[in-house]
Amino acid sequence: MKPIRVEDYSAHAKATLAGDVLGYLDGGAGSEWTLRANLAAYERMTVRPRVLVDVARCDTGTTLLGTGLSAPIGIAPMAYHRLVHDEGEAATARAAAAAGVLFVASMFASTGLAEMAAAGGPQWMQLYWLRDRGALLGFVERTRAAGFGALVLTVDAPRVARRPRDARNGFTLPAHVRAVNLDPEVMATSHVAESGSSALERHSRERFDPRITWADLGWLRERAGLPLVLKGILTTEDAELAVAHGVDAIVVSNHGGRQLDGAPATLDVLPEVVAQVAGRIPVLVDGGVRTGTDVLKAVALGASTVLVGRPALWALAHSGADGVADLLGILRAELDEAMALAGRPRLADLDRSALG
Ligand code: FNR
Ligand code: LAC
Repeated sequence: MKPIRVEDYSAHAKATLAGDVLGYLDGGAGSEWTLRANLAAYERMTVRPRVLVDVARCDTGTTLLGTGLSAPIGIAPMAYHRLVHDEGEAATARAAAAAGVLFVASMFASTGLAEMAAAGGPQWMQLYWLRDRGALLGFVERTRAAGFGALVLTVDAPRVARRPRDARNGFTLPAHVRAVNLDPEVMATSHVAESGSSALERHSRERFDPRITWADLGWLRERAGLPLVLKGILTTEDAELAVAHGVDAIVVSNHGGRQLDGAPATLDVLPEVVAQVAGRIPVLVDGGVRTGTDVLKAVALGASTVLVGRPALWALAHSGADGVADLLGILRAELDEAMALAGRPRLADLDRSALG
């Protein structure tokens, strides 16, 4: 039967994916407290419906860094889509473009830059700061040449955290799933198996630069020639520093509970970060978005756009580009319905008074 809710894709993934792949997708760091907290924060919040409002037409459209989106939705950067489907990121990117939503590719995409870019539609590229600045810069230049519209530097991962499911499974990338946009030498150890530990965690300790600070951002900005977004901001202090350093947008994110276990739910810190930023730059959020009503809640708390992570991979695993297109259709239809039933036909009508 065709899925009608995001959780149907989750159930299908649980029933069909290999255990180690499922562990990598669904798992989090430590006790997975933060992973659960992201979901629980949406569950706690209610929507206050206003009635007798003309909702004959609801408009989910928005603009992000000058680009129009059909809904305030994007696909979060996730490594290695080919773990779950042979067409990998090419399929995900096509579905996002067809739906008119943002696609954020991972630096560890398993599909070539040109193939992703060929999908059209708004696309950003995520970066990890590699110790090898030559490799980092080469990647940035190829990304710009391919037509990606912004760089998203992930700042919550000076290294990949300890994730118990991956350690237990000795998670390793199979030979046919590779970060094809980087030099094979840079990525080699992510393919080396060792029981009791994750190859991705070990690889990150070797290859990610844990010494970078705010002072290094200028080096990247001068050379990037693209807007710079920081992903992984969770405090008002860092939001202020991001604005002060000329960053173009931030993503309130705890990496879907995959990095610092014990970090707060993103929905819980979104309001204070939005208040601090005070409209100077867009604030995006990710982590735990599973329904159109969740999108409404995040927008009502001031998010410009929400990014959706795991659900996109569950849908890709289910039925490739069609699955991701259906998933995005479900989220958009649920958002439209929630706006209509809450008496808030425009995104601009959504503020804290919409929530209880
Ligand atoms: C991720 N995430 C991630 N983030 C990033 O900046 N670069 C990356 O390469 C990846 N890779 C990755 C792989 C997988 C399998 C997952 C599930 C996640 C984190 C991602 O961008 C996002 O922050 C979270 O997934 C959002 O939470 P939800 O929607 O999955 O709950
Ligand atoms: C992850 C890394 C690659 O979350 O960002 O798996």
